[in-house]
Amino acid sequence: MSHDAEPRPMTSRASGPLTGEAQVPGDKSISHRALILGALSVGETKITGLLEGQDVLDTAAAMRAFGADVVQHGPGNWSVHGVGVGGFSSPEGVIDCGNSGTGVRLIMGAMATTPITATFTGDASLSRRPMARVTDPLSQFGARITAREGGRLPITIEGAADALPIRYRSPVASAQIKSAILLAGLNAPGETVVIEPEQTRDHSERMLAGFGAQVHAETAAEGHVVTLQGQPELRAQAVAVPRDPSSAAFPVAAALIVPGSDILVPGVSRNPTRDGFYVTLLEMGADISFENPREEGGEPVADLRVRHSRLRGVTVPESRAASMIDEFPILSVVASFAEGKTVMNGVSELRVKESDRIDAMARGLEANGVTVEETPDSMTVHGASGVRGGGRAVTHLDHRIAMSFLVLGLAADQPVEIDDAGPITTSFPDFVPLMTRLGARFD
Ligand code: S3P
Repeated sequence: MSHDAEPRPMTSRASGPLTGEAQVPGDKSISHRALILGALSVGETKITGLLEGQDVLDTAAAMRAFGADVVQHGPGNWSVHGVGVGGFSSPEGVIDCGNSGTGVRLIMGAMATTPITATFTGDASLSRRPMARVTDPLSQFGARITAREGGRLPITIEGAADALPIRYRSPVASAQIKSAILLAGLNAPGETVVIEPEQTRDHSERMLAGFGAQVHAETAAEGHVVTLQGQPELRAQAVAVPRDPSSAAFPVAAALIVPGSDILVPGVSRNPTRDGFYVTLLEMGADISFENPREEGGEPVADLRVRHSRLRGVTVPESRAASMIDEFPILSVVASFAEGKTVMNGVSELRVKESDRIDAMARGLEANGVTVEETPDSMTVHGASGVRGGGRAVTHLDHRIAMSFLVLGLAADQPVEIDDAGPITTSFPDFVPLMTRLGARFD
């Protein structure tokens, strides 16, 4: 769904210690994949803990439009009656993926090797984002694709009738590119191979294997190589979605910078391909313990205990960027309170997320008294013992920019305003009430 609701400004202000338990929502990446693989399998997939953010609701609506029966039974509790690999039918209307790059890119992959036609659109943010990174490999499968100038949405795809498997070396480390290709490879005979320059999040590989596909991954001299055997019969599964480490990052960061805080964030995924933010925080001296480690729904999870900490700046190695790609905005807030500078290298992908996140963070932090340096592919934040605040941040339809600046205001000397809290519903609909229960002050 594309949103043209009136912008909703919001302010956060210096708060007392944050305490209590933060039950963050289900993982966004896994939620999208559970709906899509459920729709491509035979039988009834039961999903618990599904994120009911707008991005995922848009993917649920898209799966219905392609012919799957998708039903909500209760909060987070959903079922999908799939149509099987190659079973999608042409949707009647345009598929509107709203704000979601993951939604649109994975769904384009999932239909590109079935002989049906679909047109995809999205909101102003999604319509600015590059899609050729996915449509180029999808056309190699034999799909015919028409895009707006610059390879942007809206895009129409005529899926390939007799798809050929591909071997594709991705120029960008991107789980969305990898996943779009693997989903397209499901309905091509033989082996589809994706080579990524760095390993990215592996939820698609784990879940495809769980649904019965043959997937093999190895790190070789040429990169991280993932091979899928095409035309499997996917069997419906029960999927328990762990809590999202990228959403947990916001209360975790808030507890680290608000003096006296001590919170528990239970049941968070600790998948090593998503762990870079937590590794970095530990290097900065954060007091975080990972309690009660266990496995849920095929993913490692733990309860995170987080206390206010004195932090020092670090240099984040470029090789870690993929495992924390969504956490750089909130890391730059944490870094503002650390002693010394924090250097983030090799992060040019941040410029093509829901907003140009380097620019959005740099401008918003500067407006609040933080010194930031940027290059096309790096950002350096100069930390201090306190942050002035008192500024306004422009969020550019980007949920993570909105939440990052609301967290900044909880520990800044003066209140911090954002121009629009509306986009937060895409990934973390309960963010404001959850943070308020911990002791955060918003108005
Ligand atoms: C995602 C992959 C990442 C991430 C996005 C979710 C996914 O994008 O930024 O929020 O679910 O595959 P890229 O793979 O394009 O870096």
